[in-house]
Amino acid sequence: MGRKRWDSRLAFILAAVGSAAGLGKIWRFPYLAGKYGAGGFIFPYLIALFVLGVPLLMLEFSVGQKMQQGAIGSFEKLHSKFGGLGIFALISSFILVAYYAVVIAWSFIYTLVSPKVGWSGDAQGYFFNNILEVSEGIGVLGGINWEIFAALVAVWIIVYFCIWKGPDSVGKVVKWTVPIPILLLLIFLIRTVTLPGFLQGWELYLTPVWSALLDPEVWIQAIAQVFFTLSLAFGVMVAYSSYKDEKADVTKDSWITAIVNSCISLLSGFVVFGILGYMAYQTGTPLKELAGESGVGLAFVVFPKAIELMPLAGLFGFLFFVILLTLGVDSAFSLVEAVNAGVQDKTDRWHAAQVAFIVGVIAFILGIIFTTRAGIHILDVVDHFITTYNIVLVGFLETIMVGWYYGAEKMRKVINKVSDWHLGKWWNYSIKWVAPIGLGFLLIINFIKEVPSLHKWFLANLPWTSALVGESVGVYGGYPSWAIGIGWGVVVVPLLFFLYFFFTKKPEAEVVES
Ligand code: PHE
Repeated sequence: MGRKRWDSRLAFILAAVGSAAGLGKIWRFPYLAGKYGAGGFIFPYLIALFVLGVPLLMLEFSVGQKMQQGAIGSFEKLHSKFGGLGIFALISSFILVAYYAVVIAWSFIYTLVSPKVGWSGDAQGYFFNNILEVSEGIGVLGGINWEIFAALVAVWIIVYFCIWKGPDSVGKVVKWTVPIPILLLLIFLIRTVTLPGFLQGWELYLTPVWSALLDPEVWIQAIAQVFFTLSLAFGVMVAYSSYKDEKADVTKDSWITAIVNSCISLLSGFVVFGILGYMAYQTGTPLKELAGESGVGLAFVVFPKAIELMPLAGLFGFLFFVILLTLGVDSAFSLVEAVNAGVQDKTDRWHAAQVAFIVGVIAFILGIIFTTRAGIHILDVVDHFITTYNIVLVGFLETIMVGWYYGAEKMRKVINKVSDWHLGKWWNYSIKWVAPIGLGFLLIINFIKEVPSLHKWFLANLPWTSALVGESVGVYGGYPSWAIGIGWGVVVVPLLFFLYFFFTKKPEAEVVES
């Protein structure tokens, strides 16, 4: 039997866009735009998108399509030393989906309470005390929150039935889960422009803050967001494109995916900032305070608070959380599908539906830790490490693999052979030089910032680096060192798989000789 196929090109593109357009649209993009001075973030984001994101998306699309396997098998076929990189990517996916599903579970609960505007009067207290029943610190697990647990079960049942037949079922589901949130966002946009104050919100969103361009942290966040939003470095796009015909187009599909996804990001930014503008107008709170207030809290505290002020709050609250749900589900199942594809290539003992079941159950069990009352604290730590290190490391190693081991020019020829739009030589430079140098540089800077003693050393001995590593030591802090240790574990354990295979596997030529 041949490999499973998408039933149309549209099904593939919708699936790719569905994976790309996820909770990050509401949960990360506007938050980062707010944190780094709104307009100041969009510019680095767009540059990172064109210089790194799209070339890497092309890389992942072409690797999966040419090798016709999930991340482990494809990378291994590309170069025998890189099978472990696939394992690295898939372990990251596994961890990501474990907590991503929990955020969807929160959205699920909110969808149920939204018609009655359950959070009315105290959105913050409602989220932290009623829904999460959050414990006082990461060290106090406080037992499982059964309401979230139940919602998580529901989310996993939905996710399972979306992917149990691989591209067949995915293709059918994304015909709904991609257009629905776009349509609802458009409805919100219309609602937004009829609210007083929305223009101030848009102004903040669009005003460039040029000094942000000099802040390396903004760049790493922009790059991480581009990778995160395009679902790169998790094996997702490799798995999805492995269900395409070997002769299918690569460049056009990459551009379409990236551009449609960015349009959805910008659209949701308009909605979020427009509504924040309205809220600032209504409550007299400075807009900057609202926009930069909190991470996850933006979706679950600030936004619900704003919706509460609107006429028909119940309806719009409901629509908002349906947006979160539909955006989130197709991203979550893409991560599971990435793991499934990787596992299925390696064994024919189980059917696809069985693999999906096993992977789903394990990821669910892993996710239970996030349903405890310390869940949001743990989620914060794990998310920080996954999205700062795992993404960037895997992306970096992918560019090394293709740029230096397989050959960028060779890959460019593969892409050009099947694509209508031919790739110029610029792509080679991006994959061989710009991407690895940029990503490597940012990794080092981030690492310095992460380790307080190292950071201190740099500030004391090489003061000129303060512009790069920041003035204040311990940028990501406030957690006990064992928690930070878990964070590092999330990076180092999968990395060890990569290193093990990289150093023990012989290059192909030698394998043939022996
Ligand atoms: N792209 C998704 C988002 O923006 C997240 C995601 C990352 C999904 C990686 C799959 C793989 O929310």
